[in-house]
Amino acid sequence: MGAFIQVVCETPRLVLRELADADLAAIQAYATDPAVVEFLPWGPNTHEDTRRFLSDVMAARAATPRQQWDLGIVLRSEQRLIGGCRLHVTDAVAGEADVGYVLTRRYWGQGVASEAARALVGFAFTRLGARRVWAVCEPANAASARVLEKAGLRRERFLRAHRLMKGRWRDSYVYACYNEPR
Ligand SMILES: CC(C)(COP(=O)(O)OP(=O)(O)OC[C@H]1O[C@@H](n2cnc3c(N)ncnc32)[C@H](O)[C@@H]1OP(=O)(O)O)[C@@H](O)C(=O)NCCC(=O)NCCS
Repeated sequence: MGAFIQVVCETPRLVLRELADADLAAIQAYATDPAVVEFLPWGPNTHEDTRRFLSDVMAARAATPRQQWDLGIVLRSEQRLIGGCRLHVTDAVAGEADVGYVLTRRYWGQGVASEAARALVGFAFTRLGARRVWAVCEPANAASARVLEKAGLRRERFLRAHRLMKGRWRDSYVYACYNEPR
């Protein structure tokens, strides 16, 4: 498998790489965990949900110009896919992309998501030429807010009850960072 998998970003501990059908079981390990998906718009996933996700990812990868990078987070020391992250171009004209991440619960608290998020921000600025990288995060998701801060994003806005997710209207903080002085 290794020879065909494309590496997109590398950090001291992590490889962020393209996903493959063979990753389905590793994705299921976190996508089925209710604690992991609590603040996410998807999940807990069935096998079919994850199969569809992978097929959507493959389709988006083939788009020209490509707008979406949904990548696996591989921990070098274990050669294991322990999570996923995303960078989606949300406005190509304005140079905006949003970032997201999710990790298998037993790898929380080791700085992995911050390392991945920093790498994605760098990828967006240096390789995609993005001007603004942004993310939304529920105020209750303190770990995610901290990850965004550690990746260099700053809190810009509070959106009250702006999205209906899993039967509840959710608040969000909007975080962003810029590749140019404002
Ligand atoms: C959010 C998530 C990706 C964080 O991953 P992680 O690898 O554990 O994050 P890191 O270790 O890089 O950093 C977490 C930071 O949050 C802090 N933190 C963790 N839980 C916290 C809490 N309840 N309150 C305040 N800070 C908290 C940690 O101390 C750490 O900050 P520090 O390095 O300054 O001490 C992980 O918890 C996850 O997968 N959650 C489910 C998916 C999700 O919510 N994704 C984000 C959607 S917006």
